[in-house]
This record gives sequence, structure tokens and C-alpha cells, in this order.
Amino acid sequence: MDTLVELHDVTKRYDGAPVAAIDSVSLRIEAGEAVAIMGPSGSGKSTLLNLIAGMDRPTSGAVLVGDDRVDQLSEAGAAKFRRRQVGMIFQFFNLLDDMTVLDNVLLPAQLSGAKAREARVRADELLDTLRIGHRRDAYPARLSGGERQRVAIARALINKPSLLLADEPTGAVDTATGDEIGQLLLDLNARGQTLILVTHSPELAHRYARRVVHIADGRIASDTPVASDTPVAGGPAVSSGPAAGSGPAVNRTGTGS
Ligand SMILES: Nc1ncnc2c1ncn2[C@@H]1O[C@H](COP(=O)(O)OP(=O)(O)OP(=O)(O)O)[C@@H](O)[C@H]1O
Ligand SMILES: [Mg+2]
Repeated sequence: MDTLVELHDVTKRYDGAPVAAIDSVSLRIEAGEAVAIMGPSGSGKSTLLNLIAGMDRPTSGAVLVGDDRVDQLSEAGAAKFRRRQVGMIFQFFNLLDDMTVLDNVLLPAQLSGAKAREARVRADELLDTLRIGHRRDAYPARLSGGERQRVAIARALINKPSLLLADEPTGAVDTATGDEIGQLLLDLNARGQTLILVTHSPELAHRYARRVVHIADGRIASDTPVASDTPVAGGPAVSSGPAAGSGPAVNRTGTGS
């Protein structure tokens, strides 16, 4: 497998902070992995994701994603890198409330200059696969938390990112919905999508990731594989790549909300 993400001795010290938020971290993630990042509040998990996504720059060290030296990108270069390579989902969805579901999903494709017709086809496919297609003309405020997160996942995938970053994606939904979102992420990973998932839930980490990295005080405290007693998704589910030939949608995860 190819290495997709590589951090070399990365330190991030916010201006004026007495201690580093990320302290001499080296980490390597292969393409196709599903990695959970765990650790107490304030330990540096979101900072780590932001560094990988090029949302923030390390104080020292190198961040590589694919062929990109992320820590050296200009602001415009980083924005372009994110549009091409990275999909992000967050605890509070971060959808735009004055745009419909469909327009939220289409926005990253428009920003990256994708052909409108192709983007529309892919958006429709993703929304249908995530079982939210019937709400494509609704506004986010009218959706449940689980529905909003499914829209956010569709938006994160519209540009076929090589890397999907999720920062507590189940933090604002109930347990059943959290399980469903976890299962969607696992299905995506089974289809080859590389996934880095920040979570406070050991349950989610162990069920839906194959490797758990614990962070404490900005350092890696442990990095362990997860015994895979959860069967990997049997059939095609959410397509992370071109949709050609992708089979039934995610209907193993139970009822819709
Ligand atoms: N923009 C910022 N400016 C200054 N300090 C920051 C900034 N963002 C985070 N920090 C500090 O860096 C440390 C790590 O924060 P981070 O948000 O990465 O933690 P976290 O592990 O994601 O926590 P949580 O589980 O609460 O989300 C904390 O001490 C936090 O206060
Ligand atoms: Mg955080």
C-alpha cells in the first residue's frame, strides 16, 4: 500500500500558548486505512486534523499528503489542495443554511471548477446512496441531525477526495444515528476511502476503525491495530469513486430517520 499521509516530527504551538498543541508527532497512514484518533479534550486531535488538511501550518516539521507538501502550501495552494484531496465532516455539520441540500453538496464541485452536469449526476448519486435524495430541495434547518450529517458526508465526497477527515461526526447525534454514520464511514472505507476519524467514543473507534491512535498532551501515547471482529461490509455501499456498477445502497444500516 502507498503511504497517503505522513507527518515528520510535527510541532504546532499556537501564538502565546505555553505548551505545544502538537508536540513532535510523526505518523504515517497508508492509503485505504481507517484510523481513529482518540484522546482527552484539548489533547490536540482537531489541531492534528487541521494540520493534515492544510487549514493550519505547523510551527516545525513536515506534513505530506500524497504528493503535496502541505505545510509549505500558500493559502491559495492549501485551499486548492483541500478541494482536490480532502473531504471534511464535523460535529455540527457546517452546512450553509441558506442553500438547499443539493446546493450544499454541489458547492465544492463548483468551487473546483467541475463540469456542472457531471457534478449534478454525482451529487444525485451520493444523495441517493446516503438515502437523503428525497430531501435534495430542502434546507438544512428542516433536517434531523442524522440527515444533516449525511448531507455533510455527501458534500465531503463530491470531489472524490483521497482523504476523508471526520472530527467527531457523531458528537451531535443520538447513539443510533451515530452507529449509522459510523457504518456509512466503514462502508466507505471498505470501498477504498482512506479515513481519519476523531472520536471520543471507544465504541465507535473500535467498531469503525482498523487502527486507533491515542493522543495525550499533543503526543502520540499509543498506536494500535484494532482486532477486526467486525465483519467488513460485504457488498457495495457508498461509492467513494466513480459510481459505475456500484450496487445497492446503504440499506443494511437499518431504518432511515
Ligand atoms: N486557534 C487556537 N489558538 C490558540 N490555541 C488553540 C487554538 N486551537 C486550539 N488551541 C489549543 O490547542 C490545544 C489542542 O486543541 P484541540 O482543539 O486540537 O484539542 P482537541 O483534542 O480537538 O479537543 P476536543 O476534544 O475538546 O475537541 C488546546 O489546549 C486548545 O486550547
Ligand atoms: Mg477537537
